[in-house]
Amino acid sequence: MLQFKLVLLGDSSVGKSSIVHRFVKDSFDELRESTIGAAFLAQTIKIKDTETQEDIDIKFEIWDTAGQERYKSLAPMYYRNANAALVVYDLTQKNSLSKAMSWVDELKSKVGDEDLVIYLVGNKLDLCDNVENRGGKEQEEEENKRVVTTQEADSYAKDQGLLFAEISAKTGQGVKEVFQTIGEKLYEI
Ligand code: GTP
Ligand code: MG
Repeated sequence: MLQFKLVLLGDSSVGKSSIVHRFVKDSFDELRESTIGAAFLAQTIKIKDTETQEDIDIKFEIWDTAGQERYKSLAPMYYRNANAALVVYDLTQKNSLSKAMSWVDELKSKVGDEDLVIYLVGNKLDLCDNVENRGGKEQEEEENKRVVTTQEADSYAKDQGLLFAEISAKTGQGVKEVFQTIGEKLYEI
């Protein structure tokens, strides 16, 4: 079994803990408490070796960091030996993308991106305009809250050589695929 260390970074309340809980426990909590310090969770996935067609077990050791400013100095402890970083922003909060960009800069200067797979992740897609997320429901609370366009984040990610996805921890849309892609990418390296 292969083991990889994964870290989640990003502003407070963008949904880092919710993404990890969706992935590890397949659950979602509307009233999740803000993380103190950091939380550790582990999850194993299977990927296929594209040449041998053999199933490979990959264990992720996941550090879910606290986004509040007062914990910022702890982050290097968690990203230092990481194999992959999920840098998360909230599709409904403009400044959370700037915060994500500054994490990307910090990772590139302190870790070096040859050694680290960086995944830019826009969360809370369920609050956005995508037709396929709406399930045909036309309730008032489902108005489009998107403020960060797909194109804006995607072109930044391409420019920086990052993986990129928009997901929802609430509905689970795209969450498994992010971890699956990281597993496959790290297995290749
Ligand atoms: P810190 O621990 O403070 O850094 O925050 P965090 O990034 O871990 O955010 P957390 O997972 O605690 O989520 C913050 C709030 O956003 C919670 O009330 C969640 O229920 C909500 N939330 C998280 N993900 C989603 C999502 O995909 N959609 C919606 N609608 N709400 C979400
Ligand atoms: Mg948290």
